[in-house]
Amino acid sequence: MFVLWPFLLLATYSAALPRGLNAVSCTNFKIDVPVNNVSIIVPWLMPIEDQYQATSYADTPTFQLPLEQQKNMTTISRSYSIAGKWCAPFQQSREVATLQILTHGIGFDQSYWDFYLSDGDGSQYSYVHAAAQAGYTTLLYNRLGTCPSEIADPYTEVQANVELALLTSLTKLVRQGQLPGVPRPRKIVHVGHSYGSALVAGLAATTPTLSDGIILTGIAANSNYIKNLAAISAFNLANENEPDRFPPSIYSNGFITWPNKQANQFAFLHYPAFDPAVLEYAELTKQPYTLGQLLTLSLLPQTAPNYHGPVLFVAGERDKLVCDGNCTGLLGSDSITVKAFNGSRSIEVYVHPGVGHGINMGQNATGVYGMMLDWIAGHL
Ligand SMILES: *[C@@H]1O[C@H](CO)[C@@H](O)[C@H](O)[C@H]1NC(C)=O
Ligand SMILES: *[C@@H]1O[C@H](CO)[C@@H](O)[C@H](O)[C@H]1NC(C)=O
Ligand SMILES: *[C@@H]1O[C@H](CO)[C@@H](O)[C@H](O)[C@H]1NC(C)=O
Ligand SMILES: *[C@@H]1O[C@H](CO)[C@@H](O)[C@H](O)[C@H]1NC(C)=O
Ligand SMILES: *[C@@H]1O[C@H](CO)[C@@H](O)[C@H](O)[C@H]1NC(C)=O
Repeated sequence: MFVLWPFLLLATYSAALPRGLNAVSCTNFKIDVPVNNVSIIVPWLMPIEDQYQATSYADTPTFQLPLEQQKNMTTISRSYSIAGKWCAPFQQSREVATLQILTHGIGFDQSYWDFYLSDGDGSQYSYVHAAAQAGYTTLLYNRLGTCPSEIADPYTEVQANVELALLTSLTKLVRQGQLPGVPRPRKIVHVGHSYGSALVAGLAATTPTLSDGIILTGIAANSNYIKNLAAISAFNLANENEPDRFPPSIYSNGFITWPNKQANQFAFLHYPAFDPAVLEYAELTKQPYTLGQLLTLSLLPQTAPNYHGPVLFVAGERDKLVCDGNCTGLLGSDSITVKAFNGSRSIEVYVHPGVGHGINMGQNATGVYGMMLDWIAGHL
């Protein structure tokens, strides 16, 4: 049974100027999204007391759930406030019928998909803008624990299964035409980046008919992902790293981040294929992640054999986080990542040259957008 919670439409604005020629008009939303009887873990690491202990946690040899702890799970049923926006092309066209739902990765908020330099200049880092120019509507949102969506408990609530349930629930709302102002789409494509891609893959595994096509960017079956992220960030406490943006009264020690823009560059960008101004602004707008997410990532389903729609993988060639610096050859038909979709009617892999993990922040981002949008036009 589907229950609609009260929600609030915040504002409509158009981004016609200075962001290019009458391309896109966006409507913000904030809505209570229900999750029902979702399994969560009782974290086996104690809540973080201070920075020294946090850094020692970054050294956790494995973030796999210990066997004895798998019995110690519980469930949660409630709703969470999720904030996002819906963006339509000014010039409506037939592609409006296909909606793309965009899920960002760790370290960003929804602006990963709609990034403009701080002076508002240029649309070359905005996938939303490129999609609108190609006639597509997009729906992007801030994941749980990412402001202005709800800042829930970073140990027991901001966990991968809860976030998967939220994406599933949000998709059902949209499919049933229950998100006010958002026309019921004929088809839905789910697009993810990194951790967001893991959630999209989880959706394809658990509710395969909810998606007509998926694009997974910044993902490869490299178990070093969390280790690399942990090493680069050394689990800096968000509330000490940026107390003004992440005050301890709202962000407990369970919210962690990397130390500075150098670490950001190391993790997300490949020299020299980026504009330093992009790095600067990405660091100013970075978002923390949670211990709960890292401890539960391995619980997401690893295969989606009942998903029959088309899949596009997009990798940044020099991605350090998921490919240890070289994605070429890692997404072959024999790789675990690709084989997970063995029921799919079409799988394509695209390695974008010269860029790191933060594909949308790298040089030639419009090149990769064009590729993704052409793929959608050709497969849906
Ligand atoms: C909740 O989920 C558990 C397993 O995760 C299941 O055993 C139980 O029956 C479910 N409860 C309800 C009310 O659906
Ligand atoms: C399971 O979780 C409960 C509640 O947090 C805790 O008291 C208990 O010690 C945990 N059991 C194990 C085996 O870790
Ligand atoms: C990446 O790996 C591929 C396949 O092993 C290899 O051919 C290529 O030279 C490597 N690229 C770099 C930049 O090391
Ligand atoms: C796909 O892989 C699953 C295991 O994940 C296997 O059970 C199934 O038979 C495979 N399906 C096809 C069509 O090969
Ligand atoms: C930019 O991206 C396009 C589309 O994927 C690609 O064909 C082109 O080679 C890229 N250009 C550079 C300079 O990397």
